[in-house]
Amino acid sequence: MTPLPAFFALHHFTEIDSTNDEARRRAAAGAPPGLVIWADRQSAGHGRQGRAWQSPPGNLYCSILLRPDKPAGEVAQLSFAAALAVCEALPGARALRCKWPNDVLIGDRKTAGILLESEAAGDNVAALIVGFGINLESHPEGTETPATSLAALGIKTTPDAVLGDLCRHFLTWYETWCDQGFAPLRKAWLGRAHGLGSEIRVRYGGFETFGRFVDLDASGALILETSEGRRHISAGDVFATA
Ligand code: BTN
Repeated sequence: MTPLPAFFALHHFTEIDSTNDEARRRAAAGAPPGLVIWADRQSAGHGRQGRAWQSPPGNLYCSILLRPDKPAGEVAQLSFAAALAVCEALPGARALRCKWPNDVLIGDRKTAGILLESEAAGDNVAALIVGFGINLESHPEGTETPATSLAALGIKTTPDAVLGDLCRHFLTWYETWCDQGFAPLRKAWLGRAHGLGSEIRVRYGGFETFGRFVDLDASGALILETSEGRRHISAGDVFATA
């Protein structure tokens, strides 16, 4: 493994319920930022919208604890830092694309998912957990967004080969965000955006809408050009139109 920058304190488990849950428990007990929980497999891995995240050995499951002390709306921008770090850490990086809000694809298939969970203190976020699930050796079948793995594409690697680079790239983007705000992340993410300029379907808050994905705004919301004008959507799921 590439050595982790000194900011990080790594804890490795052969099996755990969920690396995000363990990071949250340790955050509640006062763990400092930079905690990394890494597991070979998870018995109760979970994803966005309460979906289960299948977690057999061979893939990378890890969570990083941060304490950004900023409002939740701003802290959500760190999902873009996480997606960029995944793209930069994986072999075959040139083929990797970021799908709004926080997936990483190869072609049209999901290769990694990112789950941000936070604990508030007043108006700000006291603890942010950034969870990464990266399909290195295997991927689930029958998911709403079709999935793939690096192995399915003929790229062999291991969790420990990826983890150090992932942490290093993520820290660089986190520090960039702390020093310069969201603008540099927005620019880099748009350079890797999947579906930019295409017709998409967006599901949010129990609704579905269609339109052309034209941009990200300065906060990270997706800008959708619809028949009724431009909409800024700050949370939802994106699908290609058939
Ligand atoms: C998604 O695409 O829905 C996000 C998936 C995030 C999965 C990772 S695996 C490591 C960490 N622990 C969890 O329980 N979830 C995240």
